Amino acid sequence: MATENIALITLFGAAGDLAHRKLYPSLFKLYQKGYLADHFALLGTSRREKSDEEFQALVADSIKDIKETKAGEAAAFAKHFFYQAHDVTKPEHYDVLKDRLAELDQQFVTKGNRLFYMSVAPQFFGVIAMNIKKQGLLTDEGYNRLIMEKPFGRDFASAKELNDELSQTFEENQIFRIDHYLGKEMVQNIQALRFGNTIIESLWNNRYIDNIQVTLSEKLGVEERAGYYDNSGALRDMVQNHIMQVVAQLAMEQPVSFTDSDVRVEKIKALRSLRVYTPSEAASNFVRGQYDAGADTPAYRDADGVPADSATETFVAAKLLFDNYRWSGVPFYVRTGKKLADKFTRIDVVFKKPLIDIFANPRMTSDQSLKSNVLTIYVEPESGFALRVNAKSTGQGFKTEPVDLKFLQSAAEKKEAPEPYERLFHDALEGNHTNFASWAEIAYSWKFVDVVRKLWDIEEPQFPNYAPGSMGPAASDELLARDGRAWIYKLNK
Ligand SMILES: NC(=O)c1ccc[n+]([C@@H]2O[C@H](COP(=O)([O-])OP(=O)(O)OC[C@H]3O[C@@H](n4cnc5c(N)ncnc54)[C@H](OP(=O)(O)O)[C@@H]3O)[C@@H](O)[C@H]2O)c1
Repeated sequence: MATENIALITLFGAAGDLAHRKLYPSLFKLYQKGYLADHFALLGTSRREKSDEEFQALVADSIKDIKETKAGEAAAFAKHFFYQAHDVTKPEHYDVLKDRLAELDQQFVTKGNRLFYMSVAPQFFGVIAMNIKKQGLLTDEGYNRLIMEKPFGRDFASAKELNDELSQTFEENQIFRIDHYLGKEMVQNIQALRFGNTIIESLWNNRYIDNIQVTLSEKLGVEERAGYYDNSGALRDMVQNHIMQVVAQLAMEQPVSFTDSDVRVEKIKALRSLRVYTPSEAASNFVRGQYDAGADTPAYRDADGVPADSATETFVAAKLLFDNYRWSGVPFYVRTGKKLADKFTRIDVVFKKPLIDIFANPRMTSDQSLKSNVLTIYVEPESGFALRVNAKSTGQGFKTEPVDLKFLQSAAEKKEAPEPYERLFHDALEGNHTNFASWAEIAYSWKFVDVVRKLWDIEEPQFPNYAPGSMGPAASDELLARDGRAWIYKLNK
């Protein structure tokens, strides 16, 4: 039975792409399930003029593809939405917001529970937070919470500056920094798999694990986001946030309890023990790439809005090392890129082989020897996991072959599973930080990434260096081959 959340949401960037594609549909799903009901309202803002009715029509349009569970549900939902033209940089505009929020608070009896959502360009994050306080938009009665989109800074220095600005208005426990990877079913399942299963957690260390591999692979190129992307690159856009968050969940110790504060403590400790490389270590443990032209697709440098000599990386592979008792000597290999073979995210946990292969005999070829056990966590598009084990192959004689013990979510289960934004909205309404990035986590991951960024900013890359439809440059395979290892996911396998 869903518990109704009572909240007045102020959305900055209400006419934007994210709001239309993700935020309104997610709120509607929460409404359908009873997590939002009579006592919620949303005041949308952006600069362009719009009446409440026009805004309600825009919201209705964004949810038109979601099947109603009751007649008239979508129209009733849209009636909770209101609009105020507003320029975030103009302090006087916040006076009007303040009055409208007070009215809506009364009308919907939202008991002073205020959730401010910043879905605007990041340069506005600081000014919005400052004006929320200065112009008196906070309430003393209920809660004041801030949800913010990525990116959180461009490096440690700018992230710290932003965090200092936010801290003038909001305490750390009032800030919810979105990393939509943390809203994904199988990323959340990492903790269930690890801490709910003796057979997994008891092996989750350097005695039994040889290496861990994380792949976030995208099939698309930069498409319409060229302007933003060329300024960012894969290191900032994917590694500093999504990959570091996934890695922290894989590396963390067991929390005392599954509460947000206990989980945070352990993620922070994990990131603290991540080895920050010297520039020369970074040079040998990081690989960057940029895609070339393919048969029917232009090179990154020829995409609209990208300079012809762009040095922006569209691919990163790296070897990460944790200096702690659990992980000493176990490399975490990560890779992400655009225009790769397929769109998928997966984690491969590669276990050590048995110390002695008693089945080996002189007539055996090397591919008949025992294989490593691999636990694969499929994050998307499939959700599930597989455990590769060695078994006797059926028939005369004695040979072993790897077989997969596999669980994949059914199509029906997948359809029922909430989208990341729905989960994360719900968590923020409940005040649960488990699936949001804390400032300390962000600070450690920027410090780690900054060394690489600085190095790459001064060294000219040899771009382009990989073909669309591949799994990145050859140097990505060499990074593992050097250690006598290979990526578990390979093309055509
Ligand atoms: N779109 C995505 O899939 C996606 C994914 C991940 C993260 N994000 C993040 O989400 C945020 C929003 O992205 P988006 O794609 O929705 O951006 P967008 O489509 O460009 O929308 C930006 C919104 O901000 C408003 N705005 C711009 N300047 C303003 C000002 N001075 N005062 C008040 N409102 C102003 C715009 O409306 P007016 O022009 O009418 O003011 C519009 O509503 C960004 O931080 C982005 O990095 C987006």
